[in-house]
Amino acid sequence: MTTRIAPFAPTAAEPALAHAPAFPADGFDVVTGAFSYSGSAIAATLERAGRRVRTLTGHPERAGSRSTVDVRPLDFDDVLGLARSLEGATTLYNTYWVRFARGAEDHERAVANLRSLFHAARQAGVERIVHVSITHPSISSPYGYFRGKAEAERALAEVGVPYAVLRPAILFGGDGVLLNNVAWLLRHLPVFAVGGRGDYRIRAIHVDDLAALAVAAGQERANAVVDAVGPERPTFLELVRQLRGAVGSRSVVVRVPGSLVPPVAGLLGLALRDVLLTGDEYRAMADGLADTTGPATGSIALSAWIDENADTLGRHYASELDRHFRRGRRRGRASSR
Ligand SMILES: NC(=O)c1ccc[n+]([C@@H]2O[C@H](COP(=O)([O-])OP(=O)(O)OC[C@H]3O[C@@H](n4cnc5c(N)ncnc54)[C@H](OP(=O)(O)O)[C@@H]3O)[C@@H](O)[C@H]2O)c1
Repeated sequence: MTTRIAPFAPTAAEPALAHAPAFPADGFDVVTGAFSYSGSAIAATLERAGRRVRTLTGHPERAGSRSTVDVRPLDFDDVLGLARSLEGATTLYNTYWVRFARGAEDHERAVANLRSLFHAARQAGVERIVHVSITHPSISSPYGYFRGKAEAERALAEVGVPYAVLRPAILFGGDGVLLNNVAWLLRHLPVFAVGGRGDYRIRAIHVDDLAALAVAAGQERANAVVDAVGPERPTFLELVRQLRGAVGSRSVVVRVPGSLVPPVAGLLGLALRDVLLTGDEYRAMADGLADTTGPATGSIALSAWIDENADTLGRHYASELDRHFRRGRRRGRASSR
């Protein structure tokens, strides 16, 4: 069953806790990846609401010098340590996932890791888990990502801690990788290939809207499953054309058979020493899994955001491998707000 959650949006005129009757007066919350992408937005939203934040992360060195976030390791081999780090926390906000298989990290391993994390949270007495998933997870999906996400949601439901699941399709804003890198390609390549007719839709949500939804979901008590989606759902071709216009690209947008996209993305990935887009990611998007038709749960319009950030979008390439698979590398700077 899907339940709606009103996003958490304190304003200067209305103090944060006036919106947050369920927040205990003290205590803290745990956010995975508070120095990574969506985790940093969730941590910032919590801190603005007056909450103390602890993070579980594999990248403690990314904490800024003025960070007030308490840092513990995200070490799935040490379940007792995870439980100790979670002890006393009110809510666990989980963003952990592995985007694609590489080395020992794959979706099966990510599901097993999440089982450990959820059990550690129950053992530690965490009151609620807010878990970031994906639109259209399915145990019978042909795509490992979507199958794994469905298995993770099932593991969460079985663990017995009250929960909320947020299901975004694609995130934008902050220093997100995906749209930034489409803009980067449009700035640098003479030709940009769109697979098939490019008529599959993209229902993206701003990372700050996702964070507001997550924090609101942390204050509820009932179990909830919510699509985290913004107000617009352009086709991929429309999105590419808008990005092209916004960044002043002269790249020629051509439509190519969908079967060509994974090998072309693979070759570009080799040149950039990164993984741009996996075959499964392309096929899932072309199958319509990045779209939903339900009501928007985020309010920031993708088109307005692209226009506002046209100057910075795609100026720097953002490497997924540097962020998650190459130890000691700094995060590449991507876009602005
Ligand atoms: N980004 C999108 O467009 C998008 C779209 C749909 C759904 N989602 C979902 O939203 C959630 C958050 O995504 P995000 O883009 O915000 O993720 P992220 O910040 O890049 O990573 C989230 C967390 O996962 C950890 N992590 C990621 N890759 C890892 C790896 N290979 N090995 C070990 N740890 C790894 C990070 O660890 P560190 O703290 O060590 O960095 C961080 O704690 C995920 O569940 C994702 O499936 C994202």
